Amino acid sequence: MIIKIKKSSDVPSSEVTSESEYLNRRSFLAASATAIGATAGAAALLGRAASPLSAAGSTPASASAVQELEPTAEKLITSYNNFYEFGLAKEDPAKHAHALVTEPWSVVVDGLCNNPAEYQLEEFVSPSTIEDRVYRFRCVEAWSMVVPWQGFPLADVIKRADPTGDAEYVAFETLWDPDQMPQGRWRNWEPRIGWPYREGLRLDEAMHPLAFLATGLYGKDMPNQNGAPLRLVVPWKYGFKSIKSIVRMTFTAEEPPTTWATQASNEYGFYSNVNPDVSHPRWSQARERPLGSFRRVPTRFLNGYADEVAHLYEGMDLKKHY
Ligand code: MTE
Repeated sequence: MIIKIKKSSDVPSSEVTSESEYLNRRSFLAASATAIGATAGAAALLGRAASPLSAAGSTPASASAVQELEPTAEKLITSYNNFYEFGLAKEDPAKHAHALVTEPWSVVVDGLCNNPAEYQLEEFVSPSTIEDRVYRFRCVEAWSMVVPWQGFPLADVIKRADPTGDAEYVAFETLWDPDQMPQGRWRNWEPRIGWPYREGLRLDEAMHPLAFLATGLYGKDMPNQNGAPLRLVVPWKYGFKSIKSIVRMTFTAEEPPTTWATQASNEYGFYSNVNPDVSHPRWSQARERPLGSFRRVPTRFLNGYADEVAHLYEGMDLKKHY
């Protein structure tokens, strides 16, 4: 069954939202949400993440949360990227990722689940409601941004897959096609990095309402360089957990191998939660540089989402499980 998703390319250009209109609309929504008390969606739109328990409308959004989360300029979000399949420099993905063919696109869901399937993108996405989420995004390299994403909760597809009782983790894979991604063949590196790019989450992390599958940003289809047509966004973890251009999700009993933890396990762990108190072996994580600024600002524990997600790590030594 193919269900057509309405894409921004189907909308007349007169209706496509410009960055300034997008931000105005957001201010309007922010004001409404403040007036009515934030729901999970509205709170996330404001960047004040809501737990499922606070989604009942009891948490009014604070004015400071609104000011704090001014989205980074669209131009910066879409031109300063990490997508190593398209090269190592920040400007490479924007230069080369136009070669990525995103239609047709399929996603395999397999492993320890009762409903394994291969979906066409439309059937994967269309049972969900597309929502706006404005999230902080913190790269392990100590730069950060605020992104207005569109997409839907990762939990939607997990519930549909119905993991078996043995499933403890979900692993993700990016497309690897050297014909479309010739820049990913770094000399002496391709065998070492072991494409495809892989990531993973513990199942309870993946089910958390803040874990998000994004299909667009700034009200437009996801740009290829940002991980079209479908990428993960886990706002309380370092950016490399937010795997791009996903083609497979696999439920596993064991912690799945992930690209950067496999490359350099002393530098990058499986959890990779944003933590100003745990330095990278080669630099401090205490501060970050918001894109578009030269000033460094303090980094927050769990990227500012501790109220919502810290319970996932109760009893764990986060210096050990970095
Ligand atoms: N996903 C794939 N497939 N390949 C990558 O190189 N880089 C990661 C993550 N997802 C990466 C990836 C890293 S290191 C970061 S910081 C973010 O994507 C960057 O996302 P952005 O380019 O949209 O800012």
